[in-house]
Amino acid sequence: MKMHHFSLILFGLLSALSGSYGGNILVVPVDGSHWINMKVLIVELHSKGHNLTVIRGSSSWYIKDTSPYYTSVTVNVGEFDDDFMVKFLPRLLRIKRQGNSFWNEMTLADEMYSRFTEIHQQICNMTAKIFDNETLMKSLEDAKYDLVLTDPAFGGGVLLAHRFGLPLVQNVRWTMYGEAHFDIAPSPLSYVPVTGLKHTDKMTFSQRVMNVVMHIMTLYKNSKYFGNPYKVFTQKYFGPDVDFSSLLLNTDIWLMRNDFTFEFPRPTMPNVVYMGGFQCKPAEPLPADLEEFVQSSGEYGVVVMSLGTIFGQLLSDLNDEIAAAFAQLPQKVIWRHTGPRPAMLGNNTLIVDWLPQNDLLGHPKTKVFVAHGGTNGIQEAIYHGVPILGLPLAFDQPDNLSRMQAKGTAKILDIANLDRTVVFEALKEVLHNPFYSENMQRLSRLHRDQPMKPLDRAVFWIEFVMRNRGAPHLRTQSFRMSKITYHSIDVILTLLVTIFIFVFVTVYIIRCFCVFFLKKKVKHE
Ligand SMILES: *[C@@H]1O[C@H](CO)[C@@H](O)[C@H](O)[C@H]1NC(C)=O
Ligand SMILES: *[C@@H]1O[C@H](CO)[C@@H](O)[C@H](O)[C@H]1NC(C)=O
Ligand SMILES: *[C@@H]1O[C@H](CO)[C@@H](O)[C@H](O)[C@H]1NC(C)=O
Ligand SMILES: *[C@@H]1O[C@H](CO)[C@@H](O)[C@H](O)[C@H]1NC(C)=O
Ligand SMILES: *[C@@H]1O[C@H](CO)[C@@H](O)[C@H](O)[C@H]1NC(C)=O
Repeated sequence: MKMHHFSLILFGLLSALSGSYGGNILVVPVDGSHWINMKVLIVELHSKGHNLTVIRGSSSWYIKDTSPYYTSVTVNVGEFDDDFMVKFLPRLLRIKRQGNSFWNEMTLADEMYSRFTEIHQQICNMTAKIFDNETLMKSLEDAKYDLVLTDPAFGGGVLLAHRFGLPLVQNVRWTMYGEAHFDIAPSPLSYVPVTGLKHTDKMTFSQRVMNVVMHIMTLYKNSKYFGNPYKVFTQKYFGPDVDFSSLLLNTDIWLMRNDFTFEFPRPTMPNVVYMGGFQCKPAEPLPADLEEFVQSSGEYGVVVMSLGTIFGQLLSDLNDEIAAAFAQLPQKVIWRHTGPRPAMLGNNTLIVDWLPQNDLLGHPKTKVFVAHGGTNGIQEAIYHGVPILGLPLAFDQPDNLSRMQAKGTAKILDIANLDRTVVFEALKEVLHNPFYSENMQRLSRLHRDQPMKPLDRAVFWIEFVMRNRGAPHLRTQSFRMSKITYHSIDVILTLLVTIFIFVFVTVYIIRCFCVFFLKKKVKHE
């Protein structure tokens, strides 16, 4: 009994000291690979004693309805056609393999965007189901959440936060409109490269022209494909004068999934918190059999390859070339690969259908990471200082990797002209040229040299928002303005008109004087 009392008092003291309390958080995640990131936050918040509720669709692929870390609210959304990616990606890769046919890629992009429009529509339908369900709305209201944590790749969380008047924290790299900085912060196109061109922050004149053209195309794409479902939704549920993008930008804290070891320096905002590498952890010991294989590489070390879940098995002819290149290496290779076994597989190559990526990258014998530039891989490579041989396949992966190339930490292969010699030469270069590993280790040191771990920083700011019921003092007024006010076009026009009037009046007066004096002179003579 006494012991019990004592621990109660101790607990009270501790929580008073740390000022922490169990908050109540409503999480509206995005399914698929984005969920992996969100879950890292959820697990950490749970361990800090917060109560988490996750909203998921009934056809969710990754988000389980029961979990030790959260309670879930499942919304019935009917069947979700998820073979789109399965059909789409092979076509995209085939087009890329045949050389970069611009128009083919554009047609395919158009198809992909239309598909995204459909998904946005589905998200709106799902949110409408929640809004229209009075019992569900009442129970959500009664739960008295402290904040909404969401990923703005889709807009459901933003809509719910507005409906309940809750503070909003976004776990973000992409909003539905593109790279999030472009929505949040001033982005001078002279040195901020837009996504899709693989430019750096040092652009030539023609690259800057392309940068502007691409930006305009992005704006067009957004208005054509992504705006409408949310516009219709907000008008129906919030009235005609509520604009979705201002709801989106009315965010208290943006937890940005990158930082400036990855990103080029650019303007940012007071409520952007960089948490790049928040998912990285020190390596743990490998399973015994894997450790034995790694040790058997001797002084040569190992090469680790993983192209992510969906991509790995799509490229059977490529896989054969890659396997043949690996077979020529004295190093050992650990390759995460599902699907048919590549022919030409060397006896130095171990195929696994899953690998402890973080622990392998943190292993001192790991020399090179062959990666596609998708979620987590790059961040873990930076964290552990392992140089990358990049094989970008789709989406923003080329941009991800081009940033690494610009920092001298990666070499990029083009799948259009990939064969065993190209792969072998590239592997040799990244393995033997100290340029890559030295740069990556420097980047790793820079990334780790910060006062607080990125995950702790993210949790601090989430708790900050709960303690202070939002962070409006960090939010700029910019998104409440029209484009005309924001760019001071009205002011510039007023000043121009004033100057014009002033000049006009001055010239007029001078002319009058001149005429007056001339007349006088004429009279005199
Ligand atoms: C946590 O959230 C769930 C779902 O909203 C609720 O049923 C439960 O009572 C909450 N627990 C605490 C300790 O607040
Ligand atoms: C969304 O709901 C509307 C009306 O309920 C329906 O017509 C439409 O097919 C739905 N769209 C999707 C993508 O589920
Ligand atoms: C409303 O939500 C409740 C609780 O989640 C659920 O049991 C019920 O089936 C929903 N009703 C409709 C019409 O979807
Ligand atoms: C692996 O293959 C090489 C040549 O292909 C051969 O020399 C070597 O003995 C093989 N090693 C093992 C362990 O089978
Ligand atoms: C790279 O691209 C993927 C999408 O393909 C994205 O989810 C991920 O966050 C990017 N990686 C980094 C390190 O930002």
